[in-house]
Amino acid sequence: MADKARLAILISGTGTNMAALLYAARAADCPFELALVASNNPDAAGLKLAEAEGVPVFAQSHRGMTREDHDQLMHEALVLSGAHFVALAGYMRILTPGFVSKWQGRMVNIHPSLLPKYKGLHTHQRALDAGDNHGGCSVHLVTPELDDGPVLGQTQVAILPGDTADTLAARVLIAEHQLYSRCIARLVRGETTGSAEVSIGG
Ligand code: GRF
Repeated sequence: MADKARLAILISGTGTNMAALLYAARAADCPFELALVASNNPDAAGLKLAEAEGVPVFAQSHRGMTREDHDQLMHEALVLSGAHFVALAGYMRILTPGFVSKWQGRMVNIHPSLLPKYKGLHTHQRALDAGDNHGGCSVHLVTPELDDGPVLGQTQVAILPGDTADTLAARVLIAEHQLYSRCIARLVRGETTGSAEVSIGG
């Protein structure tokens, strides 16, 4: 099999999407392998899992740094790891345009709504408040505008009677874990650039 693409993942917290990508990458036919898990939060739970699973980790708190300087340090860690692609997985930082441009077309994010609906935070509550019958998740290429890049894939998740933001979030997370590795696999294989491939169901 051809060399695998090297994927770095940026996290700030729990890192369940990171874990899903890590275990997806264990399949022999997965076209990517993990080069690095990096975080702006040295206490991020996901770092401990990545380390235990033998994935190189890097942590650099953003506190007391300019956004530009912090992004530059993260960029250097990504380059050092030999990453070809970057996946944001609950990375709670607004990225500088300079950082985004260095990875444009090779950096993806997962967002817990059916974009273009509900960019930003509190997506599940907003879907419930709007009376939607479906929430969902989207994987998109990262552009300088928040949650705005070309969508690579989406999964719809039914909203059930009595759902709260928490119960809906938990179900959407299951869909996220399936969708993210599928979309990244297609991207690294060159099967999608996100221009015209919005497909409900990933
Ligand atoms: C996910 O809902 C993801 O869509 C959003 O942040 C959350 C991260 O969760 N961007 P986890 O850290 O991957 O568990």
